[in-house]
Amino acid sequence: MNDILKVDVLLGLQWGDEGKGKGIDALAPKYKIIARAQGGPNAGHTLEFDDCKIVLHTIPSGICREGIKNVIGNGVVLDPAILVFKEMNQLVSKGILTFEQIQERLFISKKAHIILPSHLRLDFISEEMKGKDKIGSTLKGISPTYQDKYGRNGLRVKDVLSNDFMKKYQILKAKHAHIAASFGYELEDETFADKEKKFFEAIEVIKQLQLIDSEIFLNEAVSNGDSILAEGAQGAMLDIDFGSWPFVTSSNTTTGGICTGLGIAPNKMNNIFGVFKAYCTRVGSGPFPTELFDEIGETLQNMGKEFGSTTGRPRRCGWLDLVALRYAVMINGITGLIMTKADVMNEFDQVQVCTQYIQTDGNKIDICCPDDMEAENVQPVYTTFDGWSIADLSDDNFQKYVNFIEEIVGVPIIIIGTGPGRDQIIHK
Ligand code: GDP
Ligand code: IMO
Ligand code: MG
Repeated sequence: MNDILKVDVLLGLQWGDEGKGKGIDALAPKYKIIARAQGGPNAGHTLEFDDCKIVLHTIPSGICREGIKNVIGNGVVLDPAILVFKEMNQLVSKGILTFEQIQERLFISKKAHIILPSHLRLDFISEEMKGKDKIGSTLKGISPTYQDKYGRNGLRVKDVLSNDFMKKYQILKAKHAHIAASFGYELEDETFADKEKKFFEAIEVIKQLQLIDSEIFLNEAVSNGDSILAEGAQGAMLDIDFGSWPFVTSSNTTTGGICTGLGIAPNKMNNIFGVFKAYCTRVGSGPFPTELFDEIGETLQNMGKEFGSTTGRPRRCGWLDLVALRYAVMINGITGLIMTKADVMNEFDQVQVCTQYIQTDGNKIDICCPDDMEAENVQPVYTTFDGWSIADLSDDNFQKYVNFIEEIVGVPIIIIGTGPGRDQIIHK
């Protein structure tokens, strides 16, 4: 029966930026297809190889590997200008791929929804209206675009091929102008005309790419025996249902989102790899019980180069939180863990890991639902470890750290990242 289990999944278990891009790039040669299922250009997935650093936002992280097909699935929201002028231009201008090679390797679902310039503006207005309670959105238009998808108003990639695309665009833009006006804002700020011009230029380029029914493409591939690695975006704690709502993104970042975002049934799935950092980071607002406000937090930020790949914002840093990790492993059905950035903590005298929260009423929590995570309501309980000099299993202290995580979480760590480079990994 196992011959139909051709789909593996790799996704983030914390608040994003766990090193998914590097993990996908490293594992990609084992697969025929890499497919993104959800999210959009709020994601920033970094690949480093041959002295070159690439940040991808919507293009799957297998694009730089020869012979691999890369699919942007139906669950993704796509900003044409970012895809064409940022991502594709980056690959071409750095001499990594030609436009023709991208055309050959990239496949886009006709059902993926399109981010309009007016979605970007509504994202900004929404954050302004929330004031100090803002989500800390990446301002890439993610929430307004998903709202239109679920409100059954949006534009999809297949619409760019229709003769009345401009009419559909204007109807949606007019609706957005009404929403903006209801909050007292003009839809068109001073940058709007330029964004709109780039949007339509990018649409012309997208028409030259392979636009497909990706669910059929992927299921046929599975039937033909091809293996697929699905690439998650964001992380479990940002999931619209299971994350620290409302400080989350607008899609299901967990395994279920892979099924609906690609049209792949659960019974086709085999390994579900979960990526986590040896510590924790978070960009944007929301609870973060193990956050460090002292010089250790600053050291993690500097040594780990913890600045957003998409927005450049500094990432909040803290100790590894096993209470949250347990929850993420449960929700996703993780079969193997990938731990990244333990090298960032080389030379720390001591390292702490949170194993439990104590609530203000004394109640103890071992597996945390993010709703119970408000920092003022929980006190993390830590286990302290002696630091390691090198993140390698030959280092006894490091081995103890790895064993402890595996024991508490109940899933083996199968890969350890030892640096940002493609080959800087240990298979355990
Ligand atoms: P993603 O969104 O999950 O793909 O992660 P990002 O690319 O946003 O952020 C992860 C950062 O850590 C990137 O700069 C990677 O190059 C880097 N990185 C990934 N794995 C490792 C690792 O094991 N060690 C170190 N030092 N850096 C890593
Ligand atoms: P990758 O795939 C880290 C965060 C934002 C904000 C919240 C909502 O690179 O791990 P949104 O723009 O989605 O409406 O923002 O989610 N966020 C991410 N944080 N990594 C990401 O993606 C993120 N994508 C969204 O900072 O707090
Ligand atoms: Mg990222």
